[in-house]
Amino acid sequence: MEPGWDADDLWSSEEVTLGSDSQIEVAGPDDIPDGEFDPSDIDATSIISKFGTIASSIYRHATIDIGMEHVGDLVFSIHLSYACRIVLPHCKDRLDPIPNDETEQNREEIKHIAFLEITRGKYYFAPIGDNPQKIIDLGTGMGTWAIEVADMFPSAQVVGCDLSPIQPFWVPSNVRFIIDDIGDDWAHGDNWDFVHARQVLPTIKDPARLCEQSFSHIKPGGWIETQDFGAVMKCDDGTLREDSMLIEFTTLVTQALAPRGINWIVGNDMEEILRNAGFVNIQYKKFKTPIGMWPKAKRLRLVGLYMKSAFADLIDALVPRLFPSLSKSPQQIKEFLAGVQSELLTTQAHIYLDYYFWYAQKPLAN
Ligand SMILES: C[S@@+](CC[C@H](N)C(=O)[O-])C[C@H]1O[C@@H](n2cnc3c(N)ncnc32)[C@H](O)[C@@H]1O
Repeated sequence: MEPGWDADDLWSSEEVTLGSDSQIEVAGPDDIPDGEFDPSDIDATSIISKFGTIASSIYRHATIDIGMEHVGDLVFSIHLSYACRIVLPHCKDRLDPIPNDETEQNREEIKHIAFLEITRGKYYFAPIGDNPQKIIDLGTGMGTWAIEVADMFPSAQVVGCDLSPIQPFWVPSNVRFIIDDIGDDWAHGDNWDFVHARQVLPTIKDPARLCEQSFSHIKPGGWIETQDFGAVMKCDDGTLREDSMLIEFTTLVTQALAPRGINWIVGNDMEEILRNAGFVNIQYKKFKTPIGMWPKAKRLRLVGLYMKSAFADLIDALVPRLFPSLSKSPQQIKEFLAGVQSELLTTQAHIYLDYYFWYAQKPLAN
């Protein structure tokens, strides 16, 4: 069992102080009860009602898509009694290889719950204190992280920024959303206590520039944190074969992304990028995130179930955009993908992805 963690205490809020790099214990034949998780356990709505706060799930279900507004050079803003969204008009063509459609939004919700399970409820690891005043979430997606962090710090102003206007309107009064390209010049004000970006770096062309811009606009002593998957399928006990189609799939995705200038494993090692940007106190935590219901700990089996479902959807989302650029015929692609999905469904291998948290501080004085 993971040191210090109780496999049966699925929803414990015990603090996690370290990412676990120890080997995840594998379930034996008697460890998994028949029909342990209902199929509805991987439905985003039931996950939210099971794990999310009542308030935040209400906010999330009140999503209204306003579409993209272009108003010349003016900033177009919408103010409602509980919500504010600003659409900056200079968004460029998106580089993100993953669509932000309904399937992807469900996938994001499922991953959000899985991440909180992995960290036992921690939204970040940077020591930002009890009273941050300005927090920005870059590439906020549906804004779930931003909304829930705003609930935690009612006196803070929390901003979520994304290319896509997919955030709910009815959010806590201390949250607002900006529609903008975070790869562009920074247009979000100064003196941030905390800049956060989860699963965003692998979708942008110049993560180093993003960190440099963040550094310039974080207040002295403030923090930046990134969270990303390692994107390399791993296994500690040799059960994942070297000729696995899942491994081949991730290799092909890496190849297909390279001509777009995207390095989707950039989040593995942010030390140099953060140091070059000027940050100090650079730290990281790494968590093993299982894919599939192979771990002995029930909490990790559930994470594995979510991750397997999320990965199956990711395959479908990435392929239409990426694989046409590879030298494979449509028939070859179809057959290859059928093989990948089939392996994902049936594999008994003890697969996991590393999940990295990197955080660093702007020095108090230059
Ligand atoms: C994988 S999702 C992560 C969403 C959210 N951070 C989360 O963890 O739930 C990546 C998000 O980054 C956004 N994104 C990608 N490139 C962007 C850019 N250049 N500017 C702003 N947002 C961007 C996408 O629209 C998408 O919502």
